[in-house]
Amino acid sequence: MPKLLFLFPILFFLFLRPHHAAEDFVRQPARPLVFTPHNRPQSHPQQVHVSLVGDNYMKVSWVTDENGVPSTVEYGKLPGKYESSATGEHTSYRYFFYSSGKIHHVTIGPLDPATTYYYRCGGSGPEFNFRTPPATYPIEFVLAGDLGQTEWTNTTLEHINARNYDVLLLPGDLSYADTQQPLWDSFGRLVEPYASRRPWMVTQGNHEQEIFPMIYPKGFKAYNSRWPMPYKESGSESNLYYSFDVVGTHVIMLGSYADFGPDSDQYKWLANDLAKIDRSRTPWVVVLLHAPWYNSNLAHQGEGESMRLAMEEMLYNSRVDMVFSGHVHAYERFTRVYDNNADPCGPMYITIGDGGNREGLAMLYKEPKPVISLFREASFGHGRLRIMNDTHAHWSWNRNDDSSNVVADGIWLESLRSSCSCAPKMEQKMEHTSGKDEL
Ligand SMILES: [Fe+2]
Repeated sequence: MPKLLFLFPILFFLFLRPHHAAEDFVRQPARPLVFTPHNRPQSHPQQVHVSLVGDNYMKVSWVTDENGVPSTVEYGKLPGKYESSATGEHTSYRYFFYSSGKIHHVTIGPLDPATTYYYRCGGSGPEFNFRTPPATYPIEFVLAGDLGQTEWTNTTLEHINARNYDVLLLPGDLSYADTQQPLWDSFGRLVEPYASRRPWMVTQGNHEQEIFPMIYPKGFKAYNSRWPMPYKESGSESNLYYSFDVVGTHVIMLGSYADFGPDSDQYKWLANDLAKIDRSRTPWVVVLLHAPWYNSNLAHQGEGESMRLAMEEMLYNSRVDMVFSGHVHAYERFTRVYDNNADPCGPMYITIGDGGNREGLAMLYKEPKPVISLFREASFGHGRLRIMNDTHAHWSWNRNDDSSNVVADGIWLESLRSSCSCAPKMEQKMEHTSGKDEL
């Protein structure tokens, strides 16, 4: 039986590997996979990570090998003193000959803002702690895509952890398990020291699909079981797209690998979600998706184009401030763009697919550089978006410079809501939308 396990990766790479650019790229040497072993007792929690669920609540997720462990989290504001507890749900899944452990998801709260909570999962094992996001500005997001689990990933995560932040946003491609399910467990253990301390909000990439015709035609079995996001809270019926609010910011997570055409559920959900945004409460709107709509790297050219054609106008009319994507293993910052042209009322587009996965970097670019592309570099790294107040934010890109952390790009942004030339148009559009709703 174990020998058969090796057949699936081979089949996968022969027939089902994610669509990637031609292999004629010269990539900087990738670093080897880091497998993170399980070294706790079977009843103890492993792969602990937390995510935001609505206002003032947090979901704690973890895995146990032992089935009898209750899906309960005890928590409090002092180490070892758990004044509260909550019980949630659990799930598990099978993928060919692999059976997952018991995957627990427990929502806890209400929680105070900017507060450290100490918690224990399932009644035994180590104590963890996380800090809730603040109630007011400033708030700092970390952005890191296409993480994988290599030595590059390790150093990128160390750089992320070296400076404080509030919420991590991941625009797809998490574990690079690619059907080898034990690698999902290894990834969970690799990121636990970070993802158990700050909320990690993710959307899917192509490496999460794990579709196998006839047997797993819809895919996303591991992803949906292990990384459930608060989609129901935002009126979505799919874990592949959702939105949430945190400190003046409405974050929309789109699904590059869910249907997005005008008749699709995702399209209708997005239109509805955009129409509901209250810019007096969340002046900032940012969008994450996996396959970039704007990209001057030769890797993955055109892969986001059909989604751009379907949805770009909606984002533009709603004055989305920034769109972050992954997929291309490099960093690129565009100016504000609409329909391939610089437009002061369009979103700023950023590719941040450079977390450190095993495939290495996408080194080759279109020449000459398009005028809308302002900074591009094929290096690993992570981004930081610090939202200072209703009107101003700072974006920076931190290069993973052969394991050193170097701030290599940065720019101040003004929110489109506060922009004199763009805001009135947005208000007109909102009035127009509400008028349509009344009809
Ligand atoms: Fe990807």
